[in-house]
Amino acid sequence: MSDLRIYEPPRLEPLPFLAFDKHQTRSILSAPSFEEDYDVAGLLAEYGSPLYIVSERRLRGNLQRFREAFATPRLDTRVAYSVKTNYLPAICAVLREEGAWAEVVSGMEYSLARALAVPPGEIIFNGPHKTREELERAIAEGAIVNIDNFDELEAVQRIAGNLGRVAQVGLRISFRSALSAWTKFGFNDDNGDSQRALERVAELECLDLVLLHNHCGTFVLTPSLYGEAVDRLIDCAERARALDLSPTMIDVGGGFPSENVLKPAFDFAGGSNRSGDFLAPFAEAVCTRLEKAAHLFGGRPALVLEPGRAVVDSSAQLACTVVAKKTMSDDDAIIVDAGVNLLPTVCYYDHGIDTPPRTETPGHNGFKQVDVYGPLCMQADKLRDGASLPALEVGDPLVVSNVGAYCHTMSTQFIQPRPATVLLGPDGPELIRRREDWRDIFALDRLPSRLRPDDCSL
Ligand SMILES: Cc1ncc(COP(=O)(O)O)c(C=O)c1O
Repeated sequence: MSDLRIYEPPRLEPLPFLAFDKHQTRSILSAPSFEEDYDVAGLLAEYGSPLYIVSERRLRGNLQRFREAFATPRLDTRVAYSVKTNYLPAICAVLREEGAWAEVVSGMEYSLARALAVPPGEIIFNGPHKTREELERAIAEGAIVNIDNFDELEAVQRIAGNLGRVAQVGLRISFRSALSAWTKFGFNDDNGDSQRALERVAELECLDLVLLHNHCGTFVLTPSLYGEAVDRLIDCAERARALDLSPTMIDVGGGFPSENVLKPAFDFAGGSNRSGDFLAPFAEAVCTRLEKAAHLFGGRPALVLEPGRAVVDSSAQLACTVVAKKTMSDDDAIIVDAGVNLLPTVCYYDHGIDTPPRTETPGHNGFKQVDVYGPLCMQADKLRDGASLPALEVGDPLVVSNVGAYCHTMSTQFIQPRPATVLLGPDGPELIRRREDWRDIFALDRLPSRLRPDDCSL
């Protein structure tokens, strides 16, 4: 009887995910340092914490590598940066200097691209809703308008007719695949809509069909999906030719993965490997097919790609500061001053969270699994489960990596104003977005005089 013990149910515990190098043991999710010489603690002291930090060198290198991956002598390869991914003007301007076209999905983004002197002929205007005013401007200026649906097709025809212009248009094509269910956008290729759209365009002298487009998904891990998309677009091009249309460009959209780490629920079992030249199989799937169909696109097709995250994600980090330490039932936890309002992508990424580059870190035994929470007054404000971090004190800086895509543009001022952003440029850090203060948040509001207290200072 004395041997009977209280039943202890089995439990699952996350094991530290560690990699060795000669001097220390590090989390393999750790923030890779940018090539620039930068001092995170010094930047936080100067610009406040938290702080987005963008590496110009990484950004330029990412664009160059992306373009080179898809460049072949038989194709005229164009990268149209997906502006919604991060429309900080400095980021768009750097990518423009690298020769990127702009892929925009709203009048606001179109205006930004034009303000940054992108020529209209190098703007692809996508999206399922463009207002009349937006279409008028884009058509009058000669941008490439990617038509999404039959109502928009009629609107474009009407506007081009009224303006007495021939509109440069593309047709966005969608299809259902075992690998993707992106059917919201464009003319459906499975039910004959793509054919009907081609026939309608062929009847209209005020439209010049220059491009066929598909965007097949987001963070796509299977290159063969792009192969399927290109096959569909080539088939459309054949049918377009039969109707005397002569598109010269094929646009396979964006959706290429970045270096980020997907949460297991969104990743391949065991985790996808994106080290090394992970774009090569995507380029192979797209380019070989298109090269074989070059005759359908005037001999040397223009291949347009619209990457967002693959170009910009790894170019930004979010530096922040530990503001409190806690023990929660079994787990150790820290609270930092950057919340999910600045990192909306934490719902599908396990962003690397680490001490800043070049920080002295302890050996293997000095690392612990800690949950990392943000400062917002909501339970869901959690940045990571079980980050592998050394012992930290309040006031220590941390760096969250790969935050360039969809963090700035989808950030909100929920509870707290948003931080500054610095660009690590050739001559050192430059402020490219100032920190917001509480007045910025309320600057657009109007308080009716009847509601103003006597000593109101708003
Ligand atoms: C039409 C289009 N092009 C490009 C992109 C950029 O996608 P990503 O950032 O995944 O490359 C998107 C994003 O959804 C898109 O809808």
